[in-house]
Amino acid sequence: MNILEIIAKKRDGKELSKEEIEYFVKEYTNGNIADYQASALVMAIYINGMNEREATDLSIAMAYSGDVLDLSRLGSNIVDKHSTGGVGDKVSIILLPIIASLGIPVAKMSGRGLGFTGGTVDKMESIPGYRTNIQVDEFISNVEKVGISMIGQTMNLAPADKKLYALRDTISCVESIPLIASSIMSKKIASGANKIVLDVTVGKGAFMKTQEEAHKLAELMIKIGNLAGKEVVCVFTKMDEPLGNSVGNTLEVIEAVNFLKGYMPKDLKDVVFELGAQMIKLAGFGDDIENNKAKMQENISNGKAYEKLIQMVQNQGGDISYLNDTNKFEKAKYIIPVESKTSGIIKEINAEEVGKVACFLGAGRLKKEDKIDNSAGIILNKKVGDYVEEKEVIAYINTNYEEKIEYAKSKILEIWKIIKNVY
Ligand code: URA
Repeated sequence: MNILEIIAKKRDGKELSKEEIEYFVKEYTNGNIADYQASALVMAIYINGMNEREATDLSIAMAYSGDVLDLSRLGSNIVDKHSTGGVGDKVSIILLPIIASLGIPVAKMSGRGLGFTGGTVDKMESIPGYRTNIQVDEFISNVEKVGISMIGQTMNLAPADKKLYALRDTISCVESIPLIASSIMSKKIASGANKIVLDVTVGKGAFMKTQEEAHKLAELMIKIGNLAGKEVVCVFTKMDEPLGNSVGNTLEVIEAVNFLKGYMPKDLKDVVFELGAQMIKLAGFGDDIENNKAKMQENISNGKAYEKLIQMVQNQGGDISYLNDTNKFEKAKYIIPVESKTSGIIKEINAEEVGKVACFLGAGRLKKEDKIDNSAGIILNKKVGDYVEEKEVIAYINTNYEEKIEYAKSKILEIWKIIKNVY
């Protein structure tokens, strides 16, 4: 078997065998297949697709490219959550401490930013000192000690996905149903939970733009999960405009902290509560969705959820004084208001476009080795449905580069679609 034959087979639209998929995953992880060859194969998969069997084999091969955790010592119902990606999606940072505060163990491995979407690991790393790169034993003992740990893919968990994920990001091969499904499910299989809630985002700021595509992705992930012995629930959430009021790493951590202190933008709250209620149900802590939401609200109101975030961050070396006083976070050198040119109602804010502007400002990566600028991003002062006066601020640009301001401003004025008021 050799990689040239495998690339040619997929290039010609043929089905890959289990052995061929395993060979590719093993040899690419070990560094015996070059990035340019892996890129060719990934592009061929992107164009010609994979059937269910191939996607399942790819997920399992990637999951077993490193350690597969056994979390049974934490209990019999370990619930995990993953999103298929979005803009302004800080849900995990809010939701998981709430879940842990209810006594449900949370062991979460998150990803980095991908394409125009942000990644939870990048966001968590904007908290000074917070370590996302820890060993398996410490990960599990953190969950035992404080009930929650959120880490990156930096341990030896699904290393094949880590490599392929970063590669896909730089060759425009993210939006593919078999590649997304196998990427997510490989991580979920490797990280050991037996019950998984998947947030399948749909819309302009998601990889799946239509309900039909989102359903196909969900079905495939459920099948892969079931074959691996996991119980999987998919929740479909809208991702047309960015979620909440900020896009960018530090900005989103600040928004997450504020949420747990009771300031909850409605769109963000709806997603957090829907996913959380399903997680609580899967964990066997209550079948009534509305009742589960009430339990979540109670732990936000009494401060227990925020306290759980603090415990987790402190336990992983993070400086909690930044969370207790978010003014301590380093701000971008330039914070520039963008004023509306007209009055009217905001009709549309395309989340993908906002994500791209945030990346341009430094909040995401254009190349694999790019460093993220934590303070960069966009604050959404007006959202869809809001009324805006002429000259009123619709957004704030946060950047450390003066030369980026004018372009970002012009894009924001284009992206915030305003219709004149009709009386
Ligand atoms: N999230 C992942 O973990 N992988 C993808 O491919 C897309 C979103």
